[in-house]
Amino acid sequence: MPEEINRQWVMASRPVGFPNEGHFELREAALPNAKHGEVLIKLEYLSIDPYMRGRMNESKSYTPGVQIGEVMTGEGVGVVVESRAKGISTGDHVVTRTGWQEYATAHVSAVRKVDSSVAPVSTALGVLGMPGLTAYFGTLHVIDPKPGDALVVSAASGAVGGVVGQLAKLSGCRVIGTAGSDEKVSYIVDELGFDAGINYKTENVSERLGELCPDGIDGYFDNVGGETTDAVMEHLATGARIAICGQIAQYNDVEQAMGPRNIRALLVAQAKMQGFLVFQFVQQYPAALERLSKWVSEGTLKYKEDIVEGFEEMPKAFIGMMHGANFGKLLVKTNA
Ligand SMILES: NC(=O)c1ccc[n+]([C@@H]2O[C@H](COP(=O)([O-])OP(=O)(O)OC[C@H]3O[C@@H](n4cnc5c(N)ncnc54)[C@H](OP(=O)(O)O)[C@@H]3O)[C@@H](O)[C@H]2O)c1
Repeated sequence: MPEEINRQWVMASRPVGFPNEGHFELREAALPNAKHGEVLIKLEYLSIDPYMRGRMNESKSYTPGVQIGEVMTGEGVGVVVESRAKGISTGDHVVTRTGWQEYATAHVSAVRKVDSSVAPVSTALGVLGMPGLTAYFGTLHVIDPKPGDALVVSAASGAVGGVVGQLAKLSGCRVIGTAGSDEKVSYIVDELGFDAGINYKTENVSERLGELCPDGIDGYFDNVGGETTDAVMEHLATGARIAICGQIAQYNDVEQAMGPRNIRALLVAQAKMQGFLVFQFVQQYPAALERLSKWVSEGTLKYKEDIVEGFEEMPKAFIGMMHGANFGKLLVKTNA
């Protein structure tokens, strides 16, 4: 039988600007019981994602936020230690929304079984999970790249960005990524096969894009917004497609920036800019996961995980990500 205590990270107060460790509190709760149709999961890996910052705000977003004193939201993968659900047995690995805690119950309809013969179970939170699916639909459905296109992706070494660039290469594009360190830039070029990378912290992004994309940028997968996106807008090719996936450069802004002000660039390039949420493609997840799994298992699609050891480290890992400390998909191994 599992231990009696379930440790949880709750939101202690709402951050204004960048979060710090004081905004979180470690709490002990009783182990939950699986009801009819549910499973009890012992979490092995918990996902840390940029969207969690938005959930800490009071203002309404596309889903309700976390309330003060509530367990922080998030996905996890773990082993089923008790099953009262048909089709799922003790010992199965599953992924679902669990929150930041060591044990969670979930209804069978909300869990997905994870096949550890394809790839390590942790990938169900990364390349074979929500971030991989985001890259898949944002690239292939929103941007719809054509062979020969010049495609730019920001936060290119991250969970989503790394997959975007590789899918664009598979589609025959020339791919340029922006990232926040020389090490990350070397990784996307040398390991992932991007054509070029730009360190947005040390290089002039607009100048470099001008050199690298003399005929303009046909596709832009935007993970960050802010100055990087301003620079891309100066180099749009006619008929460019822009997928707005994330705006992490603004997630900790106290005053929301006005704009964008350079909309005229869309007019001149007859370009299309489209925001999207991965959930809008939910009906197509199984087919996409099948393709992503095949590419991962045959080695066509590479991925990098940044695994932080210890459930206690959740807030620190989350805060670090907001400063670019992660290198690849950020996960916490619970060691529970
Ligand atoms: N639309 C959707 O459905 C959906 C789904 C999943 C994710 N997203 C969004 O996709 C983006 C990437 O998510 P991810 O999970 O793949 O995260 P990630 O790229 O693995 O990690 C976040 C990265 O963002 C970069 N970053 C942090 N602050 C920045 C800033 N001020 N300016 C520029 N870059 C900054 C850092 O990399 P550097 O060192 O390179 O700066 C950091 O490592 C996020 O914006 C996220 O919200 C959207």
